[in-house]
Amino acid sequence: MACFFRRRIAAKLAMTLQQPEEAFTAALSAVAVFKKQQTADFKLSLNTLRLNGVLPPSGDIELQAENLATQLKQDSVVEDVSAERGMVLFKVNRQLLVQKLLEPFGNGEDEKFGLNSELFDTLKRGTTLVEYSSPNIAKKFHAGHLRSTVIGNFIANLKQSLGNNVIRMNYLGDWGMQFGLLGAGFGQFGCQEKLKKNPLQHLFEVYVQVNKEAEHDDGLKQAARDFFRQLEQHESQAVSLWQQFREITVTEYQHVYKRLGVHFDIYSGESFHQDQAQEVVQQLQSRGLLKTSEKGTGVVDLSPDRDMSSVSTVLRSDGTTLYITRDIAAAIDRKEKYNFNEMIYVTDKSQMNHFHQLFQILLAMGHSWADRCQHVPFGLVQGMKTRTGEVVFLEDVLDEARARMLHNMSQSKTTKEMDNPEDTAEKVGISALIVQDFKGPLQSDYKFDWDRMLQAQGDTGVFLQYTHARLCSLLRRNEGLEAATFDPAVLHEQTGLTILQHLLRYDEVLYQSAQDLQPKHLVNFLLKLCHLIASAHKELPVKGSPRDVAQVRLQLFRGACSVLANGMRILGITPVDKM
Ligand code: ARG
Repeated sequence: MACFFRRRIAAKLAMTLQQPEEAFTAALSAVAVFKKQQTADFKLSLNTLRLNGVLPPSGDIELQAENLATQLKQDSVVEDVSAERGMVLFKVNRQLLVQKLLEPFGNGEDEKFGLNSELFDTLKRGTTLVEYSSPNIAKKFHAGHLRSTVIGNFIANLKQSLGNNVIRMNYLGDWGMQFGLLGAGFGQFGCQEKLKKNPLQHLFEVYVQVNKEAEHDDGLKQAARDFFRQLEQHESQAVSLWQQFREITVTEYQHVYKRLGVHFDIYSGESFHQDQAQEVVQQLQSRGLLKTSEKGTGVVDLSPDRDMSSVSTVLRSDGTTLYITRDIAAAIDRKEKYNFNEMIYVTDKSQMNHFHQLFQILLAMGHSWADRCQHVPFGLVQGMKTRTGEVVFLEDVLDEARARMLHNMSQSKTTKEMDNPEDTAEKVGISALIVQDFKGPLQSDYKFDWDRMLQAQGDTGVFLQYTHARLCSLLRRNEGLEAATFDPAVLHEQTGLTILQHLLRYDEVLYQSAQDLQPKHLVNFLLKLCHLIASAHKELPVKGSPRDVAQVRLQLFRGACSVLANGMRILGITPVDKM
């Protein structure tokens, strides 16, 4: 694995510089996998060594690299040392490369591949709370919620595989005037039977209808205000109707999340922090942070000069609290309950300012841990539509993905031999959604395109699944060749070595994704891996090769298959074995 070689190179350097202890750690952070695989496997950046104080910061860096390269002689691990543009390059022993990279596979270590890397030692560990999905009850589930769901799930998976204790939280929009309208309108337009049969659909219908009616019906508007006030005062009849709406929605969502392969440890929501939000207002007041605006609302002054040029409203003039007030209360409550080391919120970028203000207010209140809260913003998705029109519910998107995938699969003959083509189509369809979403920087907007995302060739989730299924089928067909027994000396074709060199990068890629919380590094790594595997299928046949050659090739495919599956799972994709 990469860390074995990185350590060897760092140790070698430290010895050469005759300062084994201090230089080793510094050197370790200067070694990385080299991407021009024809030239070398690893590079050592002299710039980093200079910054770390291991090398004198002056003089010609290229000359320094050349000198160092001549001092660092080859040995049993390093087969060749050279210098290039201020870097020292290392080519490791081929046989050892094959041995070290392929030995973890097929004997129960597959899932740990790359995860014990020293790169992760510097990352924050402890408890990470990730809040994602967070749809609003009775309102539309929009593309933004889908993005939040898959991105948050990815971040939670990644943090978990790197050893953090992860709490997955869904913060429902389960409070606000919409419940006043819904409560008042349900009596008129609602139907318990329909609510049981198709809860999300029915709540949404009632919500749309009551909104329309309320526009020209002042009595209904008043009834809505009354209902919401009853709710705020915890009056039992109002509360029990609200509770029914909430429970029914959560149950329904849980079912859909299951299809998506997503789960939550906690379903919290804005309603939980209604009373605490009033306490927050009092705390702000006693700390002298609450100001009254000209309009009579309660605000916190966030402008640098304290001249009220930038304020955040936390209290309406009628004394009710707002979205942000509940968020302040929720954050403090979570810190007390779960004592997280870091908290991550995933929403679209239109809420950037909201979270910026939230963290600023928390800091002003003396909660220094707000420094370890982070908002991960993402861009908008245009044109998410199904055949029947606009997407209203998450389930619509999943149904459409499955139907389209099933249609594509019906063209292929292997589909007929499948035990459960529907289930496969569902998993592959979802992976197409995820890969389309994760390929670029999260902050960019993108256009939703069913045809492009479902292509079997090209950089899609379908291609990842197809490659995985093909590898599984190869492994099934060769069960007679014992796993994990192989002779590293017989794998010498560049096609195979390139795959190994690529696998070397796995921990660096995870590290990069953990640093900036962007899935694109991992997605692109896996897509590249699949392209390399496609060439290997052609050039390194297992069938018809001598037993020892067949064995090591199969082990290579086994390793590639495991890393592909591990990476897909972190992305939130369930790999399929047949397709
Ligand atoms: N329910 C909100 C929406 O749909 C998202 C909630 C995000 N999380 C938060 N803590 N404010 O826009």
